[in-house]
Amino acid sequence: MIELEIFQTASDAAHRVAELALEQVAARPASVLGLATGSTPIAIYQDIVRQVRAGRVVWDQVTTFNLDEYVGLCASDPHSFTYYMQQHLFGPLGMRKQKWFMPPHCGPDLAQIAPRYDQTIADHGGIDWQLLGIGRNGHIGFNEPGTPFDSLTHVATLSESTRQANAAWFDGHLDDVPQQAVTMGLATIMAAGTIVLAAFGESKAWALEKLLKEPPTPAVPASVLTQHPHVLVIADQAAASRINALAGRAGT
Ligand code: F6R
Repeated sequence: MIELEIFQTASDAAHRVAELALEQVAARPASVLGLATGSTPIAIYQDIVRQVRAGRVVWDQVTTFNLDEYVGLCASDPHSFTYYMQQHLFGPLGMRKQKWFMPPHCGPDLAQIAPRYDQTIADHGGIDWQLLGIGRNGHIGFNEPGTPFDSLTHVATLSESTRQANAAWFDGHLDDVPQQAVTMGLATIMAAGTIVLAAFGESKAWALEKLLKEPPTPAVPASVLTQHPHVLVIADQAAASRINALAGRAGT
């Protein structure tokens, strides 16, 4: 079941998502969180860092698993998601290396070893709380349109529109955006206890409309979430501009 909350601004919506993460950790200090990268979570992570530093919750026992990582970019590469996470969350919260995980993304036989990430997640008891962004084409993680709903962690080829959307992180150089990433699969994501999807900005309006109004189809990967028992979508007004009447609860 999907619940929807709409907030006036992206910053209000980000604050709400941070609150939800903090409530999860307050309720279960040893929570296993699934995390996303990209532009959407930046304000969410800033808020979490601020509140953890202020003593709102203790973060020491939290374990995190990220959704995806570009194939072939090392942790020290400023374009890698590992670097992003170190900059925005792991570093500021002083998280120890053994408490955070990225999908395997370097070395040979990636296609073969990628599903081991699902096993590592299972070994940690599974993901309690998963944060998602959404691509303008409806992708979650890097599960592009056409990805089977029963997919586990795998090597994905990025669509042209996803590479274009992410080129901004590579100084606008599309050729520098990797062609492939290792991503949690849709079944990996669906195994999480609670899922919170954050959608900010007008560019997400089409995908959100498809997710909330149309029957599930692999053509819109996020639509798999309609089959999950506990999904909360936190949107700003711009992202929710095509769905108005469906609002489950309007934020302030
Ligand atoms: C990132 C990820 C992607 C992004 C999506 C939206 O880890 O899994 O699905 O959430 O591409 O990206 P932004 O937030 O940059 O619009």
